[in-house]
Amino acid sequence: MNRLVVVSNRVPLPSAGQHAGGLAVALDGLMEKRGGLWFGWSGAVSPDAATTDARIESAGAVDYATVDLTGEEHDRYYNNFSNGMLWPLLHSMSELMKFDRRDARVYRAVNERLAGQLALLIQHGDLIWVHDYHLIPMAAALRAKGVKNPIGFFLHIPFASPDMLGSAPEIAGLVRDLLAADLLGFQTDNDMANFAAAAQIFAGAVRVSPTALSFNGRRVRLGVFPVEIEAHSFARMAAEMEQSEKCLRLKTSLLGQKLILGIDRLDPTKGLMQRVDGYRCLLERSEEQRGKVTMVQVAAVSRKDVSSYRELRDDLDHAAGSLNSDLGEPDWTPLRLLSKATIRPVVAGYMRIARVGLVTPLRDGMNLVAKEFVAAQNPADPGVLVLSKFAGAARQLDAALLVNPHDPDAMADAMEQALRMGLAERQQRWRALWEAIEHRSPVVWGRSFVAGLLRATGTSARVPRQAGVPALAGAATVRLTLEHPELVPAGEVRRLN
Ligand code: G6P
Repeated sequence: MNRLVVVSNRVPLPSAGQHAGGLAVALDGLMEKRGGLWFGWSGAVSPDAATTDARIESAGAVDYATVDLTGEEHDRYYNNFSNGMLWPLLHSMSELMKFDRRDARVYRAVNERLAGQLALLIQHGDLIWVHDYHLIPMAAALRAKGVKNPIGFFLHIPFASPDMLGSAPEIAGLVRDLLAADLLGFQTDNDMANFAAAAQIFAGAVRVSPTALSFNGRRVRLGVFPVEIEAHSFARMAAEMEQSEKCLRLKTSLLGQKLILGIDRLDPTKGLMQRVDGYRCLLERSEEQRGKVTMVQVAAVSRKDVSSYRELRDDLDHAAGSLNSDLGEPDWTPLRLLSKATIRPVVAGYMRIARVGLVTPLRDGMNLVAKEFVAAQNPADPGVLVLSKFAGAARQLDAALLVNPHDPDAMADAMEQALRMGLAERQQRWRALWEAIEHRSPVVWGRSFVAGLLRATGTSARVPRQAGVPALAGAATVRLTLEHPELVPAGEVRRLN
């Protein structure tokens, strides 16, 4: 099997504990099963980072190679350009975007430095899979270092419309950089269509089929690969954790009230202010719900050096405080807001005891929390998912109560409907949601992308080498066919055609 080399800004080093975020969650499962090399930022900042080689540590079948960032790189590449500029831009929130040419230069330089380090580790036959907006120039930078291996790129977040992108200086260069990859994967059809349009407008690419562009005499494939979760194992974890001390304590503290639950990173795209407005609207207009419900919102602090995140924290604290003081009672706190991250197993248990799950981002690439909420439910007495229309997950989870998070009354309607919903309807909706996720997994998702990459490059899939035979000399090859069961899960590759 060809070695898979995953490249992402965030690398969940086994030695460093857990990281919040959809990307790490999705890739962790895949890498654990498939093995390979995982390359990226160590999470550390050090003054001599720019002159130090990648450090390698191994766990199971995965080798982790990571590099530090200097203080300036962390500020300009990670905080300012990736999270202060590209993140809001690609989520169509350009009013939050802050552009600075110096940040753009450092962003590119970090990609080039990382590409230089990675190129030293690449072997013949490796498949390189680059992830997310931090690494848009990576494929082009690797090509410039002479790397000829197949390169795929997957964007975990939305891709904005060309109109929106047009407001970003230097956008043409970024779009051209992406076109250095062989396969570009997106979460939804809409993201793929936006990219295809941007590639034509900003880079002069020619669309030769719904899933292929021609650029500089090369063919670049496009595909839609919605990220998935391991639904069965998450369901098991939730059922076990329901009886854990933490979950029992939460349940006891509710005194029989219904739990409305939100689990997010504290991020401007997650619609947290709008969620509090919607909840306030519910409580103001439905007196009978007061004292009967409690909302627990985990808003795990994230990217705290970026000003829009700091401002959001203040605004949210203020909104939660006002809601509690305006509507609370001596014996009832309507909203409990928590800024520390909660570990996944505990989150799974909380989800299982919630009557309503609120996943209402203003815009989101996929949102795995929505899928996890479905997986966590007790089929005999499931909770109800209230899901934003603007999350990628809404395309698959259309049996949820879909809402527009900008409309507080619509949010209140959906919460009320969820709180009042009878068992039969809850079960019926839950079954439809479960069917949408139960046969999928991050491993199938990853295989589907890898199969697409092999097809896009006409690469042969290498048969696993025999014991005792050196890696390169002994590697027999076999032409990938659609029947190759291990690499091409039936039905998955069709998305590329
Ligand atoms: C999203 C992004 C990931 C990122 C994660 C956590 O899921 O798509 O690339 O890793 O958020 O954000 P952080 O800035 O902490 O890595």
